[in-house]
Amino acid sequence: MKQIKLGLLGFGTVGGGTANILNNTLPEIERRLGGEATIEIVQVAVRDLARQRAVDTDGMQMTVRPMDVVNNPDVDIVVELMGGTTLAKDCIETAIRNGKHVVTANKALIAEHGNELFKLAKQHQVMIAYEAAVAGGIPIIKALREGLSANKIEWVAGIINGTGNYILTEMKQPEADFAEVLKTAQELGYAEADPTFDVEGIDAAHKLTILASIAFGIKLQFDRVYTEGISQITAEDIQFANQLGFEIKHLGVASRSENGYSLRVHPTLVPQSVLLAQVNGVMNAVMVSGDHVGPTMYYGPGAGAGPTASAVVADIIDIIRAEEQSDAYRVPALGFAQEKLEDAPV
Ligand code: NDP
Ligand code: HSE
Repeated sequence: MKQIKLGLLGFGTVGGGTANILNNTLPEIERRLGGEATIEIVQVAVRDLARQRAVDTDGMQMTVRPMDVVNNPDVDIVVELMGGTTLAKDCIETAIRNGKHVVTANKALIAEHGNELFKLAKQHQVMIAYEAAVAGGIPIIKALREGLSANKIEWVAGIINGTGNYILTEMKQPEADFAEVLKTAQELGYAEADPTFDVEGIDAAHKLTILASIAFGIKLQFDRVYTEGISQITAEDIQFANQLGFEIKHLGVASRSENGYSLRVHPTLVPQSVLLAQVNGVMNAVMVSGDHVGPTMYYGPGAGAGPTASAVVADIIDIIRAEEQSDAYRVPALGFAQEKLEDAPV
């Protein structure tokens, strides 16, 4: 049986969730792999070795140096779950140059540096998988890149930040306080390390950048997204909207027209009769319209340990399966061949 050895960078909400899935569901996962491969976490990088971990780390080599993991010759797949765009980028580049496949949940890194990283990965014939980076447990990247690949995608629109949607939902309670609700979202493991990314729309802009690139076959262009968050929304705004028959939802919208592409994230008045208006709490929902399929909708938990780690482990399984295939049958990172991406202005 093939032994696939994982090196984890980060063992927080998502890293712990990933280990938890592998601890509890490995026999089922091995069956999915035809009984031909097994998966083991061999090394983990964290900041604080003394911190009590919710998930058992027995048998895992712990280090405070992420570069130890990416340079470990035993590691086949590097799973980057620490966040940030500096050290994480250095680590992923080194992992790629060392011939290791990469799984990441880091939308900031993919949105801001994916163009270079995917190119490097192609040169070194390794894969980067990032399903967990957008909409947590919803397999939206696969849906756009694979399930809808027969279509010219017209637009993508949805609720793609769980923390923001959780806050907007909780603020419908008369006694709710923005800061308190955000604190609860942080305690539940939904928020980014810097929660201004959630409340100022930056996290949603990262995700929309990725979705637009896959949908339209254009380069990742985070700096071109119009970005507005929910920090200025008050309980009164929500009450007035409700009285008029609307919900306030923070939406990401990517569309194309004969004039080019438009990418924007901002609070939006959504009529209460529309399905998106019924998406509450940490749930996300993404609508995609293709020229043949018409409008479609995908719904599920957008953040948190279980849903996000579910996508991380699915990516690990995909990489193990894809390893068996020749390059021609591997799905390119953004669905379109890297050198065929349009350098189109947004
Ligand atoms: P956490 O803060 O819970 O965990 C981060 C982990 O990385 C911790 O284990 C931390 O160590 C470790 N770490 C951070 N910096 C370093 C460093 N310099 N050296 C070594 N270890 C380091 O974050 P999350 O698990 O919430 O998020 C991880 C990634 O997943 C981020 O990119 C985030 O955007 C993304 N993501 C998160 C989701 C969520 O719902 N939380 C959903 C989708 C994506 P220590 O534990 O010792 O502090
Ligand atoms: N902070 C992010 C959110 C995590 O709340 O949506 C999931 O990407």
